[in-house]
Amino acid sequence: MSLPASLPDWAIEAEGLYKTYAATKTTPAKTALNGIDLKIPRGSIFGLLGPNGAGKSTYINTLSGLVRKSAGTVKIWGMDIDSHPRDARAAIGVVAQEIVADVFFTPRESLETQAGLFGVPPHERRTAELLAAVGLTEQAEAYVRQLSGGMKRRLMVAKAMTHNPPVLILDEPTAGVDVASPSSSPPTIWRRRRSSATPSPSSTAARWWPASRRRNCCAGWTPAPW
Ligand SMILES: Nc1ncnc2c1ncn2[C@@H]1O[C@H](COP(=O)(O)OP(=O)(O)OP(=O)(O)O)[C@@H](O)[C@H]1O
Ligand SMILES: [Mg+2]
Repeated sequence: MSLPASLPDWAIEAEGLYKTYAATKTTPAKTALNGIDLKIPRGSIFGLLGPNGAGKSTYINTLSGLVRKSAGTVKIWGMDIDSHPRDARAAIGVVAQEIVADVFFTPRESLETQAGLFGVPPHERRTAELLAAVGLTEQAEAYVRQLSGGMKRRLMVAKAMTHNPPVLILDEPTAGVDVASPSSSPPTIWRRRRSSATPSPSSTAARWWPASRRRNCCAGWTPAPW
């Protein structure tokens, strides 16, 4: 990933973002994003709240390139998703709302494959560390289909962090995951992981938990200086 010359002020910048899903034979066209302007500062935790169908997942999926925007501009970590798509994607980790599981892989294989897809060389991978962080060390060699729903979601969180992105986004972060231990919350895991590169992490967990208990919450956050 080629980094911007200096740290960006904004982790995410969206301007004039529109998305209209095309009509099908049975459904009319649907405008899900209607001119969104939203900037999220570097080093912040940001919660995006709204009722079902408000467009939260569409917004998130547009940032990560899963949904193609109809109009507008988006920058991730200062990089335009149209002119620098690979760099922008490398700067973001996304945990999707729906569980996506590699059912024939083990959690260890899943993380190794994901890291490989992002070009992380074997000696830089921290598969065991990530598995421990999300509480899946015991399940490391099990088939993913043998994991519970909450365990699968934890694995998705770990997968989103394999390339150590400076921006992490969770769509419905608490769905199916027990919130008993703040030490295993995604922000804490991520802070711990990124702190190997940055020795001055901010206190994210305390700010995370109140927001995490709300329904319909999507959270994106970025660490203290990268
Ligand atoms: N692939 C699609 N094709 C057509 N319409 C879609 C598609 N995906 C989403 N929509 C529509 O776009 C609107 C926004 O959906 P979206 O999934 O972004 O909402 P959301 O805020 O994430 O909702 P939820 O809280 O239920 O997750 C809804 O009206 C939905 O029906
Ligand atoms: Mg959604």
